[in-house]
Amino acid sequence: MSKKLKDAYTLSSREDTINLYKYWSKDYDKDFAVRNNYKSPQKVVKYFLKYSKQNDNPILDVGAGTGLIGEYLNNYAKLNIHAVDFSKEMLDQARKKGCYTKIINADLNHKLEIASNTYGAVLSSGTFTHGHLGSSVLNELLRIVKPGGLFVISIHQDIYVKSGFKKQFKVLGSKILNLINHRVKIYGKKKNQKTNDDKVIISTFRKNFSFAHQ
Ligand SMILES: C[S@@+](CC[C@H](N)C(=O)[O-])C[C@H]1O[C@@H](n2cnc3c(N)ncnc32)[C@H](O)[C@@H]1O
Repeated sequence: MSKKLKDAYTLSSREDTINLYKYWSKDYDKDFAVRNNYKSPQKVVKYFLKYSKQNDNPILDVGAGTGLIGEYLNNYAKLNIHAVDFSKEMLDQARKKGCYTKIINADLNHKLEIASNTYGAVLSSGTFTHGHLGSSVLNELLRIVKPGGLFVISIHQDIYVKSGFKKQFKVLGSKILNLINHRVKIYGKKKNQKTNDDKVIISTFRKNFSFAHQ
């Protein structure tokens, strides 16, 4: 595991997280994504393409970082995708890719300045992980998604139970529909290199069609 990935997994404060990504933003794509053959964003996009319907828009990329999800999705379709992240520097990199129609600099651990029932889909990769976002964020995301809206979010398998995602899905009960957990490898094969076998759970589900937030 690289030093920066180790640092990312052991973050314990908001300030440390913002500082790490400020420092990492310019070479995140090359230093982390390309070097490790990081596949989570492509896999999230793959499940979005599998389950989405035409009216699942606009789309919100949660913890968008440098915009890898937007970049991959843009290869398949020109969609209305917004990015939210609290790292200004990571969002600056995402902005350069020109695949987001709106960039939102906000902390996902706080109430978002977004109206209820706004988004048709929420996508996320690499953000529900060690030292990052926990399961409590799901309530706020559910609020800003339209009834029937689609979620495709990666959750690191090590925190799925530990950080309360399993329990949270049970608590949400009939507020969500068709929950499927897809267990996939985070990293692809690398020539002549030992593969890191870490996995994420990509949870796909919809907000109940008859559940609109006031
Ligand atoms: C590992 S990066 C993943 C970026 C991108 N989704 C990807 O797959 O490459 C995690 C991102 O989550 C963001 N993040 C972490 N905690 C956050 C919070 N509380 N609010 C908003 N963004 C947060 C970080 O700034 C960082 O850009």
